[in-house]
Amino acid sequence: MNPQSLEHKVAIVTGAGRGIGRAIALAYAEAGAAVGCAARSPGEIADTVETIVKRGGNALAVPTDVTRPAAVEHLVSTVAAHFGGLDIVVINAGISPGRVPVEAGDAEQWHEVVNVNLIGAYHCARAAIPHLKRRGAGKIITLGSGMGHRGKPGSSAYSCSKAGLWMLTRVLAQELWDDNISVNELVPGPVDTAMNTAPGGLATFGDSEWIKAPEDVVPLALFLATQPDRGPSAQSFSLMRRDG
Ligand SMILES: NC(=O)c1ccc[n+]([C@@H]2O[C@H](COP(=O)([O-])OP(=O)(O)OC[C@H]3O[C@@H](n4cnc5c(N)ncnc54)[C@H](OP(=O)(O)O)[C@@H]3O)[C@@H](O)[C@H]2O)c1
Repeated sequence: MNPQSLEHKVAIVTGAGRGIGRAIALAYAEAGAAVGCAARSPGEIADTVETIVKRGGNALAVPTDVTRPAAVEHLVSTVAAHFGGLDIVVINAGISPGRVPVEAGDAEQWHEVVNVNLIGAYHCARAAIPHLKRRGAGKIITLGSGMGHRGKPGSSAYSCSKAGLWMLTRVLAQELWDDNISVNELVPGPVDTAMNTAPGGLATFGDSEWIKAPEDVVPLALFLATQPDRGPSAQSFSLMRRDG
């Protein structure tokens, strides 16, 4: 049997309309999972689902804003009802504003970044946990960032949101250890996506980093989804080359 098979598994991927989330959704479906695809833009997640179905897979698009708890509850219950349960949640939806120092920053934008990247992740985990417990096992994978571990000037909102997400990952892992639900962080390092089109994005890394395509993140996302029920938890797995 293929050790990376996701046959009979049901996954939700937030932010599945483009970038890293889309690549993970396509790969999980290719590995046999039924995939609930969530994001705010209905056209983008419909396109992800259409691609999966054309390739012979199984997927459902549920337009969702992760900052809205009722919408997240609806996402999780719709996917679980449609596919008969839930095994894997990839908390990937995220935003990153351009670089701005704290002194020149905008408080509302700061709030929005934390609201999507951290509080949105909390809503997703909270809604998913009862469904994962019902299965007797599960995986939660959060998309973290090196900036959440080390920070970078001009990135206070993003770095703080990802630092909080890393701590949420660790706390959840401890709360869910006895339920066979593992919770781990995937740190992709710089990836060429829409998030990085702003000036000062990928260019700041020069050739010091491995600049990835979204598909380069897939092997680690598959690895994390296919570990044993009592496999690694509360861990951060990084694809970065350097410590900065
Ligand atoms: N790219 C990188 O270099 C990099 C590095 C480290 C970590 N990451 C993390 O990886 C994740 C994916 O990033 P990416 O580069 O693939 O970004 P992306 O291409 O901009 O995709 C982000 C996805 O998140 C969705 N999203 C944003 N706000 C949302 C909300 N409120 N509710 C639901 N969905 C929402 C977007 O769809 P809608 O706008 O339609 O909602 C989109 O599908 C993020 O958490 C990011 O912080 C990325």
